[in-house]
Amino acid sequence: MVFQNLYLARTAQGTLTLENVALTEIAKQFGTPTYVYSKQAIKDNFMAYAAALEGQAHQICYAVKANSNLSILKLLAQLNAGFDIVSGGELRRVLAIGADPKKIVFSGVGKSSEEIQQALQAGIGCFNIESASELDQIAQIAAVHGLKAPVSFRVNPDVDPKTHPYISTGLKENKFGVAFDTALDLYRKAAGMMSIAVKGIDCHIGSQIIDSEPYMQALDKVLDLVEALEKEGISLYHVDLGGGLGITYKNEVPPAVQEFLQAILQRYVKRGHAHRTFMLEPGRSIVGNAGLLLMRVQVLKPGASKNFCITDAAMNDYMRPALYQSYSEIVEVQANSSPSALYDVVGPVCESGDWLGKDRSLAVAQGELLALLSAGAYGMSMASNYNSRNRAAEVMVDGSVCTLIRQRETIEDQLAAELSCL
Ligand code: LLP
Repeated sequence: MVFQNLYLARTAQGTLTLENVALTEIAKQFGTPTYVYSKQAIKDNFMAYAAALEGQAHQICYAVKANSNLSILKLLAQLNAGFDIVSGGELRRVLAIGADPKKIVFSGVGKSSEEIQQALQAGIGCFNIESASELDQIAQIAAVHGLKAPVSFRVNPDVDPKTHPYISTGLKENKFGVAFDTALDLYRKAAGMMSIAVKGIDCHIGSQIIDSEPYMQALDKVLDLVEALEKEGISLYHVDLGGGLGITYKNEVPPAVQEFLQAILQRYVKRGHAHRTFMLEPGRSIVGNAGLLLMRVQVLKPGASKNFCITDAAMNDYMRPALYQSYSEIVEVQANSSPSALYDVVGPVCESGDWLGKDRSLAVAQGELLALLSAGAYGMSMASNYNSRNRAAEVMVDGSVCTLIRQRETIEDQLAAELSCL
């Protein structure tokens, strides 16, 4: 089997390793379920974007929602990443690791007054405004504080990204962005506001996109608008094309970052926009393939029509299969002589939707370890405490060294906020 993570391998003895560490050792040291990330893979993924954009004024704002672990944010900040945030909580996270506020962009359809105020006071680089009323709200808060809010509008280009409907964001029927036809008027209004500084334009058409074409269409529509604005004397400093590429979970074949961005930049430069900073907000493609979820087989349960492999990880740890019917590879950590059988890999949560993989051929016995691959994005960041389960630990592997980057939650952590109210 070809692993998407270049640093994942199997030794001659059949043990799965990430960089130079055996996953069996990580399970021994930190327990399960545990998210495990390869530092080098995260670096490589980020640097692929940086290298492809070299020579063009650019800013890559990592989408914090994909994985918001502080150690990962810190690593990316060291690589010169900016950050795309969507909440006051994410703002606190990026400020906590010492990110440069000027490299933060704030997206999201429902920013609260407190969040806007905190972001303004932190001095973030740009608010990506998603409605007419948000413009008024930001202008008013900035005026009260005697500040000028840097803004761009997130326009909805009405382009079909051909992805799962739940993660498509740039169609007319989606809640995101301002309608394309209203954008000109909003820019005119914003340009005349004392407490607003118009900086750029933004769009986001969806996630897990494995085709460059929708991005090309979105770019063309956004540039049409930029050119129309320029004619009216409203000059933009940056163009933000939104999220990054999709990744391979099963047999999807996304374009290489280099090839994708070369085509985008060619169009960008040809249309005369090279002087504007080009921005992207990739999340999944930076951390997705860099991480895996390490878990242990709790029970093997033959059923009347199905065999169940019940693991100690569940939908609360990795929600994507339950939410999007998504596919992830699940592999044995130690190749072994157990007979192979077809299993539905499920968790212990009390829902039939609690599954991680269906009809998987696995050679497993009770107590053995499994790894759910390409789980670095939208894994831990979407985990919950459903069934009062503690959220998993997170471990970063760097060569032969592994570091705990988030302690396993305890029931005491969970109870604290409620015990104090009894
Ligand atoms: N920028 C904005 C404004 C976004 O809404 C998103 C993702 C991104 C950037 C990052 O896009 P990426 O490079 O990761 O494709 N939970 C879902 C994914 C939801 C993505 C929502 N927005 C999943 O697990 O597939």
